[in-house]
Amino acid sequence: MTADDNPIGWDTSAAAGAYRDRDMRLAEQLIFPGVLRRLAGGSRPDPLALDIGCGTGAVAAQLARTGAWTVQALDPSADMLGIARSDRPHPRVSYRLFDGRTLDWLADDSVDAAVCCLVYCTDPDDGRLAALTAEIRRVLRPGAPYLLADLNPAATGVAFSTLRHGEPEAVYDDGDTVPTLLRLRDGTTMTSATYYRSLDRYRSFLTEAGFPSPAIDLPTLPADGTVTEAAAETRTAPYMLLTTHA
Ligand SMILES: C[S@@+](CC[C@H](N)C(=O)[O-])C[C@H]1O[C@@H](n2cnc3c(N)ncnc32)[C@H](O)[C@@H]1O
Repeated sequence: MTADDNPIGWDTSAAAGAYRDRDMRLAEQLIFPGVLRRLAGGSRPDPLALDIGCGTGAVAAQLARTGAWTVQALDPSADMLGIARSDRPHPRVSYRLFDGRTLDWLADDSVDAAVCCLVYCTDPDDGRLAALTAEIRRVLRPGAPYLLADLNPAATGVAFSTLRHGEPEAVYDDGDTVPTLLRLRDGTTMTSATYYRSLDRYRSFLTEAGFPSPAIDLPTLPADGTVTEAAAETRTAPYMLLTTHA
């Protein structure tokens, strides 16, 4: 994979249109099952989950299809939400535009789970993410899980089969822009801007908002013949899944 020179920002119709066509195989294998597993077996009747930064609605739709969750799926991009509403409508999902910072229509301790998947890496604004994380903590019921999935900061420059975040050999510091190449289903690629944050920075977003330090999963694919043994994702985790709770 090679990166072109003009990564596109996320809140554009071009980004939303390209993201709709992304090759989702690695996310489907390495993120979504872990999220669903951790959200299985909630005990309250008709529990409410938030999919924060829902994009085109992939996580929200999967959660709703379990039959166990009502989902509010939130995003600051009207273009992403337009695609989510048309591609993944579901009676248990309501898609909603928000400012990426405040959840002021939700009462304290009123939400049973929150998921935020590949969102922090797309937002350059630490202050907004800190405010958002504090809002998530505020609205979750005591004990309710918060699952934060993102690009693995220890895997920059690695050419995975469907993505590469960062240039090979480059070293990134907190806040740096990282060109990220996503493979699309037709074999072409898009390059978007993501923003580097170390694992310690992710931990501080959570602990500064009052969450306990998270459990960290770095899933890889098994080298069992179902994927080529050379595939980088059998050796290095493209994504990380941080699990904490209110
Ligand atoms: C890479 S997409 C991920 C979408 C979806 N969660 C998924 O996993 O397919 C990143 C999304 O995060 C949204 N986003 C960026 N900053 C955000 C913020 N502060 N709060 C919520 N969403 C944000 C973008 O608009 C975009 O839809």
